[in-house]
Amino acid sequence: MTDTVATRQTQDAPNFPNDRTCPYQLPDGYRRLRQEEGPLRPVALYDGRRAWVVTGHRAARALLADPRLSADRTADGFPVTSPRGEAFRKQNRSFTSMDPPEHGPKRRMMISEFTVKCAKGMRPDIERIVHGFIDDLLAAGPPADLVTGLALPVASMVICELLGVPYADHEFFQDASTRLVQSTDPASSLPARNDLTGYLDGLITTLQADPGTGLLDTLIRERLATGEIDRAELVSSAVLLLVAGHETTASMTSLSVITLLEHPDQLDALRAEPSLIPGAVDELLRFLSIADIAGGRVATDDIEVDGQVIRAGDAVIVSNSIANRDGAVFADRTPSTCDVRPATTSRSATASTSAWGRTWPAWNSR
Ligand code: HEM
Repeated sequence: MTDTVATRQTQDAPNFPNDRTCPYQLPDGYRRLRQEEGPLRPVALYDGRRAWVVTGHRAARALLADPRLSADRTADGFPVTSPRGEAFRKQNRSFTSMDPPEHGPKRRMMISEFTVKCAKGMRPDIERIVHGFIDDLLAAGPPADLVTGLALPVASMVICELLGVPYADHEFFQDASTRLVQSTDPASSLPARNDLTGYLDGLITTLQADPGTGLLDTLIRERLATGEIDRAELVSSAVLLLVAGHETTASMTSLSVITLLEHPDQLDALRAEPSLIPGAVDELLRFLSIADIAGGRVATDDIEVDGQVIRAGDAVIVSNSIANRDGAVFADRTPSTCDVRPATTSRSATASTSAWGRTWPAWNSR
């Protein structure tokens, strides 16, 4: 007998996602989901609709690379986890919600600045920026606010340089981004999104008249002018890149510092052996899994996973934070704890390996 989300309609399904009781720890509900057998769980979303949550690491990797799952958030059945998501899902479509064959060419248009080579080329500038903010914090003396004094401005300045957005406007777009990502209520998040859309639309007009040297300029010159991308899509992609490009890194930086301060032995190990830092970044990405429920999908065909069947039309959410604590895969450690010291067996987190076949932020090597 196989299970589908539909056949589970009458059974109890826990609510998902759950609020955290401690901002730095997984919600209790996630722990309970993780403890149950099997890699798929039926859950109830905020509007009562059911979805499968993927909690097993192997299943998460396989499903993220499975062409029978679609990222098209305009499709009926796509999982929506808040009223904000419902309000946004049919508008401002960008390449992140496209499937092959449409997705690849659009993604390649953006990729030029996100290669390892480009990231390495930016290193001296990024180091200069980081040192500048640390010098300011030291000069001001304690107490220091890590978010506003380092994590947020560094991430914002770097993405501004990369995109060609004036950093002078950072107060405006940081405020709008915060309003956008922190509210689940469309009454406050829609105006924030409109503010960012209006701002980037205006910036594109300015850059058309007075070009700069960022990614937006390249896209205007090589893609908008040739008709490969239309203006609405360019604006929408610019909003995505600006918001995704600084909120994520800023959160990751701040939370990583807190995590290391909570594990002083590991901080000491990193100080003593800086060659551990690349592995530590992977481990912190796994442990923190800040983009917990970014992997929403809808099935376009039936998919069997360990005796359970995801039916065509079923909603699927890959929970990075649960999958990245799968004891069957991260067997070399207690997966619910962070350990930046070298592992005895190889391991990799869902959001930092090629399992994310269709998405690749800057840290991936190409
Ligand atoms: C710690 C930092 C970051 C984390 C944890 C993270 C996480 C993720 C995840 C999980 C996805 C996949 C969403 C999906 O499959 O539906 C994604 C996609 C994406 N991220 Fe990030 N991200 C980070 C930083 C960045 C940065 C700095 C940028 C730069 C602009 C960025 C831009 C994007 C874009 C454009 C996509 C869509 C890619 C596609 O559809 O092909 N991200 N990110």
